[in-house]
Amino acid sequence: MSGPFGLTGRTAVVTGGGRGLGLGISTALLRAGADVVVLGRREVPGELHEEAARHGRRVHHHAVDLADASAVEAAARAVLDAHRVDVLVNNAGAQERHPAVDFPLQAFDRVLDVNLRAVFQLCQLFGRPMLERGEGRVVNVASLLSFQGGLTVPAYAASKGAVAQLTKALCNEWAGRGVGVNAVAPGYMATDMNEALLADPQRLEQLSVRIPAGRWGTPQDVGDVVVFLASPAAAYVHGHVLAVDGGWLAR
Ligand SMILES: NC(=O)c1ccc[n+]([C@@H]2O[C@H](COP(=O)([O-])OP(=O)(O)OC[C@H]3O[C@@H](n4cnc5c(N)ncnc54)[C@H](OP(=O)(O)O)[C@@H]3O)[C@@H](O)[C@H]2O)c1
Repeated sequence: MSGPFGLTGRTAVVTGGGRGLGLGISTALLRAGADVVVLGRREVPGELHEEAARHGRRVHHHAVDLADASAVEAAARAVLDAHRVDVLVNNAGAQERHPAVDFPLQAFDRVLDVNLRAVFQLCQLFGRPMLERGEGRVVNVASLLSFQGGLTVPAYAASKGAVAQLTKALCNEWAGRGVGVNAVAPGYMATDMNEALLADPQRLEQLSVRIPAGRWGTPQDVGDVVVFLASPAAAYVHGHVLAVDGGWLAR
């Protein structure tokens, strides 16, 4: 797709881009004309390759556990050897639920490693060549819990609060050097991550009635907004955390 909202000829890296919101993001990027490199533990589904073929684009996959810092570095270097990366989408995220007082420290570290350290590391690794070229876009996936505390997810809330701040910190250093760094903050989305909420009818009802749009969000809702932030249309948008939440935060 050409024009200010198009990404024809661009290459985007999407972490966890093979399922959940990541699948919606990868699909939207392909439809906008980008090739997509998925970094994640599992193979990407056939439907993503079919979507790419429909648009004359390519999907590549590099296996990596984002909790492992040396594996992250090796994967990023392999991607950079093979591709000029124009867009980085830090989508992958981990979630653990325990009451705060009993939250295991190992679980806390696991969540922070994936949701924060890997995000920073990938921003460094893919951001460096973008800064050298004076051009690039980074979109981090934050959360409503970048603004709110949530219940029984203290590590997740801490990590997503930090992702919002990291987005602003990188913006301040990189916006003047041609690299745009922004974030999307999805609201309640029916993905595997929310299995526990979706299985609890009372909690589901409490959450659902608070969403002004009257429905949970979809991977496509998020994917299209990521395309906007990655596109020339958002050239003057920097350091912004854009809620895609059906109005939840306005309530
Ligand atoms: N669902 C929501 O309501 C919601 C709301 C706000 C923000 N978010 C954020 O949106 C992003 C996507 O969430 P989702 O709802 O799509 O969750 P999901 O369905 O649970 O998918 C999580 C994704 O992260 C990847 N991932 C997790 N740990 C990883 C690791 N150690 N190494 C490599 N990849 C890893 C998974 O890859 P594998 O397939 O390899 O496991 C998967 O692609 C996350 O950052 C999440 O925090 C979600």
